[in-house]
Amino acid sequence: MTDIWSPLTLGTMHLPHRFAMAPMTRSRAMADGTPGDLAAEYYAQRAGLGLLITEGTQPSDDGQGYTLTPGIYTDAHVIGWRRVADAVHAKGAHLFIQLMHVGRISHPENTPHHRQALAPSAIAAGQAMFTMGGMKPMPEPREMTQADIDDTIADFAFAARRAVEAGADGVEIHGANGYLLHQFLAPSANRRTDVWGGSIENRARFTVAVAQAVAQAIGPERTGIRLSPGAPQGGIDEGADAGELYRHLVGELDRLGLAYLHLVQRDDEALLRDIRQIWSSALIVNRAGGPRERIGQDVAAGLADIEAFGAMVLANPDFIERIRSDAALNLPDRATFFGGGAAGYTDYPRLDAARTAQAD
Ligand SMILES: Cc1cc2nc3c(=O)[nH]c(=O)nc-3n(C[C@H](O)[C@H](O)[C@H](O)COP(=O)(O)O)c2cc1C
Repeated sequence: MTDIWSPLTLGTMHLPHRFAMAPMTRSRAMADGTPGDLAAEYYAQRAGLGLLITEGTQPSDDGQGYTLTPGIYTDAHVIGWRRVADAVHAKGAHLFIQLMHVGRISHPENTPHHRQALAPSAIAAGQAMFTMGGMKPMPEPREMTQADIDDTIADFAFAARRAVEAGADGVEIHGANGYLLHQFLAPSANRRTDVWGGSIENRARFTVAVAQAVAQAIGPERTGIRLSPGAPQGGIDEGADAGELYRHLVGELDRLGLAYLHLVQRDDEALLRDIRQIWSSALIVNRAGGPRERIGQDVAAGLADIEAFGAMVLANPDFIERIRSDAALNLPDRATFFGGGAAGYTDYPRLDAARTAQAD
């Protein structure tokens, strides 16, 4: 039985335990997509996690969907992320930048070029999104041409190189939660009749091509990927053959020798067990909203090598110390999840500060 507190070597990283920080968009970057002034402090505060996976970060202008998310493709982005990576490394932790291309989950008001969003097919998500002008329906995207597909794959590889240039230990490709890669996987968003749509092999092709390009650009040992089988976000319906799709996709990705696969685990336990068998390197599992009592169970059961946590880490910079000492956790404040400054970002109290305040 493996304990969540036991160390692990992952690619080139030596991790002190098996906790990771899950990627979380915070919408606090500067207008040009450079990580904001407080980002280095925010991530460094959470260095106890060992492996920090950053907020979704666009690989190109096209990849942005939400307001004030960071990018990793310009010189300014690289300088900004270097400050974050240096601060995290100084505290002995590792940083993977999550590369997020949103596809149709976007609004032209939120992107630098204000163009129509790109997606596998011209099918709107049927949802609204926050813009500087309030909540607005996400318009119908433009169906990607073969040239768009080639360019987007190249953008992922370019952004991965820039992430490494900024000092990141690697990148996590966002293939989950209804964004571009997930849109290619799902028949509800992908009605293409070329090699990128239709059969399971065709729908999986874009995700595999992106992973291959990124792994070639920066090395498979610096490349992770996140998937979320069964996730309905962004108007996604994977259809009846979803289990078969993921078994095929994970098998194809496994051949690339990536550092890790990060699964957002919902309710299909049989699929998780199968993926565990198919996938030969490290598996990170994130159970959405999992209660505190569950911490360590997936590692102990041999189902995961690492467990990732989101909201609890957002609200507790000293999450690891609190779990280790069985202390109470701060509750996350949803009102400050996205946008704003230090409030709800870098000002969640640490246990030692709370104790000192009590003693005063
Ligand atoms: C504020 C917030 C922002 C999020 N942004 C992202 C993101 O950028 N990329 C991603 O893959 N998941 C994102 N997620 C999902 C989390 O990574 C995680 O899967 C989810 O919160 C469930 O885990 P938890 O219950 O431990 O928070 C976000 C979650 C939250 C709460």
